[in-house]
Amino acid sequence: MLTLTKKQKLFLDYITKFIEKNGYAPSFEEIKKHFKLSAKSTVHQHISTLTEKGFLNKEHYKARAISVVQDAPLSPTPPYTPTYSYGYKEQPIQHEKIDNFLNKIICGDAVEIMEKMPDYSIDLTVTSPPYDELRNYNGYHFNFEGMAKNLFRVTKNGGMLVWVVGDKIKNGNKSLTSFKQALFFQEIGFNVHDVMIYKKKNTPFMRTNAYTNCFEFMFVLSKGRPKIFNPLKVKTMRQGQEMLPFNKGADGINKKILGELKSEKTKTNIWEYAVGLHGTTSDKIAFEHPAIFPEKLAEDHIISWTKEGDIVFDPMCGSGTTCKMAIKNNRAYIGCDISKEYVDLTNHRLKAQGLRLF
Ligand SMILES: C[S@@+](CC[C@H](N)C(=O)[O-])C[C@H]1O[C@@H](n2cnc3c(N)ncnc32)[C@H](O)[C@@H]1O
Repeated sequence: MLTLTKKQKLFLDYITKFIEKNGYAPSFEEIKKHFKLSAKSTVHQHISTLTEKGFLNKEHYKARAISVVQDAPLSPTPPYTPTYSYGYKEQPIQHEKIDNFLNKIICGDAVEIMEKMPDYSIDLTVTSPPYDELRNYNGYHFNFEGMAKNLFRVTKNGGMLVWVVGDKIKNGNKSLTSFKQALFFQEIGFNVHDVMIYKKKNTPFMRTNAYTNCFEFMFVLSKGRPKIFNPLKVKTMRQGQEMLPFNKGADGINKKILGELKSEKTKTNIWEYAVGLHGTTSDKIAFEHPAIFPEKLAEDHIISWTKEGDIVFDPMCGSGTTCKMAIKNNRAYIGCDISKEYVDLTNHRLKAQGLRLF
């Protein structure tokens, strides 16, 4: 028999009674209000768990589409088991302390590693998955849903996930897996804080009947409201003093006044990077990995969404780009990759830079 925590039981009772009374399910907003919660993500979390445990059905991407499973195995209310998992294993999982994972490059399946990590422990994840099996990373596959749910669980409230992804083209048809993944992240409780573009400065011409693809998506997802935003700035085109228009009066004449132009402004959400040697990185060894993203991309997100001492995670760290930039910016890091070859590569890369001391 599956167990429910006291809170999960309260959620289930509320939803059951609401449906009995109204004939339709409560919205997430109504549930949030009823339980006086500060973030809708907590509602998502409980609904996901109740769905996984077989007490609720929830249709994706549809409002008020929760229903109660009539023959669910009802569990005893307290005493209860206060542990649960968003992974695929049904039995409660004993989480280890986050300190056990800090400043390590761990070899293994990201979902299995995350399942050992405690809830609410990561400030920022910057990662890039295998794209639609586009490349064969030594033949490894990954379980997207298990990855997404665990990423949500381990992220702190106000923490962020940056998911860098592109789409495969098969028979002239783009897969749009990137968007399907983003919608799934939203469904399980992440807030789609921004959809950013990673623009590549130098890209080879690849298709005869379409424009050269020069970008990937960077889905910037938050667990609740982002707790940190340090906006990156760029220089403005014109600086100094200039005659600037100000509000028209009743006479309709557009007046001008001498004003100071701002010397810098917040960057747009399209970030452009040179790729290749000395663009992506100057570490030659990193190119032994087939799909690295630019160091500057990782660094820009680390600076934007974290402060010194925060924990930065990359569950599919490849050549270790995110970890390297976390160290360079005085953040703690956790990296993992399923391929021993890439874990070794990352360790060599960090060591060669004098960044890995043990
Ligand atoms: C796009 S690459 C990441 C590259 C990285 N951002 C960099 O700059 O080097 C994706 C990585 O995911 C790893 N991977 C694939 N399945 C995995 C899994 N189940 N668990 C952990 N890593 C996995 C692959 O070995 C590959 O190195």
